[in-house]
Amino acid sequence: MIFESIYTPFGDHTIDVPPDKSISNRSILLNIIAQSGRAKIKNILLSEDTLATIAFAKRIGFDIKVDENKKTVSMKKGKLIKDIGTFDCKNSGTTVRHIMSIMCGLDIKGVLDGDSSLRKRPMQRITSFLKEMGADFKGGADFLPIEVRSSRLNRIDFTTDLASAQQKSSFILASLLAEGEKATFNFKVPSRDHTEIMLKEMGINLIYDQKDSYRQILIKDKRPSEMKDFTVPGDFSSAAFFIVLAILTPGMCLKIKDVNLNKSRTGLLDVLIQMGADIDIFQKKGSGEESGDIIIRHSSLKGVNINNKEIIPRMIDEFPVLALAMAFADSKSRVENVGELRVKESDRIEKIREILNFCGMELLAEKDRYEIDPARTKKPSEVVDTSGDHRIIMTAILAAIITKRKLKLDDISGINVSFPDFFKSLKEIGYEYKCSD
Ligand code: S3P
Repeated sequence: MIFESIYTPFGDHTIDVPPDKSISNRSILLNIIAQSGRAKIKNILLSEDTLATIAFAKRIGFDIKVDENKKTVSMKKGKLIKDIGTFDCKNSGTTVRHIMSIMCGLDIKGVLDGDSSLRKRPMQRITSFLKEMGADFKGGADFLPIEVRSSRLNRIDFTTDLASAQQKSSFILASLLAEGEKATFNFKVPSRDHTEIMLKEMGINLIYDQKDSYRQILIKDKRPSEMKDFTVPGDFSSAAFFIVLAILTPGMCLKIKDVNLNKSRTGLLDVLIQMGADIDIFQKKGSGEESGDIIIRHSSLKGVNINNKEIIPRMIDEFPVLALAMAFADSKSRVENVGELRVKESDRIEKIREILNFCGMELLAEKDRYEIDPARTKKPSEVVDTSGDHRIIMTAILAAIITKRKLKLDDISGINVSFPDFFKSLKEIGYEYKCSD
């Protein structure tokens, strides 16, 4: 496909972003582990990733009604199906890494599989603690497909140096379903805490402590007794594309409404403000997940160094789009300690290189670090090989809008993983473009 930007708007605009993917997934996953009841999820994201999670709930016997117009899902417990055959998690790491714990904890047998990207992603970070808890997998269980055999889980103390919300959250789910007095999750660097916030709303008391250089989550409670209704706020990671686009669009002033502003997600705002971006944040008061409006104005940016391990998980999905902001800053930027980017939906450090090459710049990259110097120019490429990674496709399209150059893309269907209305949203605020074969 060839994408070509035809018109770039300016002036004041307002936009809504899609519902948060992490919170939408968790609203289903956490209700699956509750003992009884029914729940309605309002403003849920209906994208390929969350539909995979919803499909799993159906497969194990939940009665699910999806209202696409109202963006609601109603779920009710049915008779639990204990052998689900092969289940395809498509592209969704969040789905597979959580349902593995759920299957082990609820003693459900089956084979978990995914698309070619998910098959390459490491699962050992989940299967290692599940094995220690007593789970039985066929073979090494490091990569999909993975066969989950029947298991009974026992609570353990687990220590990790990974800063992964998927690992933390999957461990908490498994522990809530396991036997024993207590489990502990010991970790160095915090990651997104939606699971903890939502479990609190479901009446689960997690205890937080510090042990030497590790933070600790102590789990004593068992699984939630009742299912719970949730309303999902806007997705900050989807807003990130429009935040960077507004900064790089001359004369633009964009208001993004009702977006999740959980501090464990908004590291990008801290970095962009440090780079000189003109951003105002209007937080709404309330309990549970924080949300509010953001106003972003076109700004000139300076380079920045990111090496603080605490900020990286707070913006882990935003490095591709931040790379674009760095590419159009007036000085060099450096990013360190981001080895995790290599095991996302694609090797995102290599994909950042592709996007920079399209912008006519080189990327200097080593194992877990890279440097973006806008002065290190080269002949621009015309194609970005996205490997179908949703965040890379959207970043590449922004690069084409900003450089005003035609972009050749392999396949754009990956956008449906997190932001099916991405093109509609671009149009809504006045960006005009042409897509041709
Ligand atoms: C997610 C956590 C992050 C993130 C992913 C969604 C979640 O992954 O990259 O897109 O919903 O828990 P890690 O926890 O593996 O860093």
